[in-house]
Amino acid sequence: MLEEQAFTDGRIFDGTRRLRVLVCVSGGGTNLQAIIDAKEAGKLENAELVRVISNKAGAYALERAEKAGVEGVCVAPKDFPDRAAFHKAFLDAVDEAKPDLIVLAGFLVVLPEEMISRYRNRIINIHPSLIPSFCGTGFYGLKVHEAALSRGVKVTGATVHFVDEGTDTGPIILQKPVMVEEGDTPEILQRRVMEEAEWLLLPRVIELIAEGRVSMDEGKVLIR
Ligand code: GAR
Repeated sequence: MLEEQAFTDGRIFDGTRRLRVLVCVSGGGTNLQAIIDAKEAGKLENAELVRVISNKAGAYALERAEKAGVEGVCVAPKDFPDRAAFHKAFLDAVDEAKPDLIVLAGFLVVLPEEMISRYRNRIINIHPSLIPSFCGTGFYGLKVHEAALSRGVKVTGATVHFVDEGTDTGPIILQKPVMVEEGDTPEILQRRVMEEAEWLLLPRVIELIAEGRVSMDEGKVLIR
């Protein structure tokens, strides 16, 4: 079990074996696809995708996993009598995969606190804005881009961060800016943020962690 584990030099992973990556999804799974494509292009040599978990049975992300030969598992809240039972089944599905890294790629479920402490600094999330802008409760998917456009920002982007007990409050690992253009709709902006930032950032962060290049230093992320 990886509870509160850290290497003595603060590294998240020491890179001496292949990083076992579990991806959690709720929807279309384009970020999952970006990870699969990076792997197929030979960019994630020191990482293996061990399982994909979806909280929605019909999520297209599960089809993407299947096509890539990655085990896909659905753990849906509606199949359980209450939240506690769902959380237990979800956490069991996570633990079973023995992940070194858990990637939230458009996963819209609030994680059980037990999971956050058990996998401290081993859960990463991708968020489609430059945190701390347009993040926190209620900011997900298109709503983030709607908020950015109604505020009139000229630059937005994406952030990959470690997950802590707050919503989008964990240590920031990498960010990438994206320009807002005249005439952008939330959908157009969402697509540009995905293409220019998210699909590049997420595989890159996984690669950096797999290579043993990411460490924690007094609550902040260091990349060597
Ligand atoms: C992505 O834009 C991701 O950043 C966002 O949901 C989308 C999922 O797309 N996540 C959040 O808003 C989390 N707060 P995908 O299923 O195609 O990867």
